[in-house]
Amino acid sequence: MITIRREAPSDREAVRLIHELAFGRQDEAEIVDALHESNVALLSLVALYADLPVGHIMFSQVRVGEESCIVEGMGLGPMAVLPEYQRKGIGSALVESGLNILKDDSCPFVVVLGHPKYYPRFGFEPASNRGIKSQWKGIPNDVFMIRVLDEDRMKDVHGVARYRDEFS
Ligand SMILES: CC(C)(COP(=O)(O)OP(=O)(O)OC[C@H]1O[C@@H](n2cnc3c(N)ncnc32)[C@H](O)[C@@H]1OP(=O)(O)O)[C@@H](O)C(=O)NCCC(=O)NCCS
Repeated sequence: MITIRREAPSDREAVRLIHELAFGRQDEAEIVDALHESNVALLSLVALYADLPVGHIMFSQVRVGEESCIVEGMGLGPMAVLPEYQRKGIGSALVESGLNILKDDSCPFVVVLGHPKYYPRFGFEPASNRGIKSQWKGIPNDVFMIRVLDEDRMKDVHGVARYRDEFS
């Protein structure tokens, strides 16, 4: 059975390995480490199978808007599931748990740069539908997505979504 809980300091090594094996490179593991080291407000969850971490998702601060109207929400990612545990619903459970926690915490939105066939099932839509674009040039509209959690606070918000510097 899979359980989801907040990441603990003792999970750090396992989390790093999950990203390295799932992505086949170091980049995402390094972003995760850099975010931890910055001591910023994060939501970091692990999925456990038989008490072992097999999946991980991280959410970190993203700001959207122009000078007079900047709203803070979260960016989803990196997320990874160990290759042999993929396609069993673990990634979905991590996304849904994260969105539920953030909604309860009054987070107004979550953005993600990801596969356009995967994230719409969780209510994500192209951010361009709401006049919100990625800080990175050349990103196709359908891969930069937003899930609005508080429509009232996002009503007149548009402009560039900026992730933390650890993503640069
Ligand atoms: C993306 C990832 C986290 C999904 O985790 P998961 O536990 O396999 O996901 P789930 O079992 O909940 O969902 C599986 C669904 O995701 C789809 N999916 C998984 N990876 C996908 C990808 N890279 N592109 C498109 N669809 C993908 C599968 O086709 C499957 O769809 P289906 O339900 O219609 O068959 C996992 O595949 C992974 O770690 N991939 C490598 C790292 C990565 O690309 N991370 C995401 C970017 S931050």
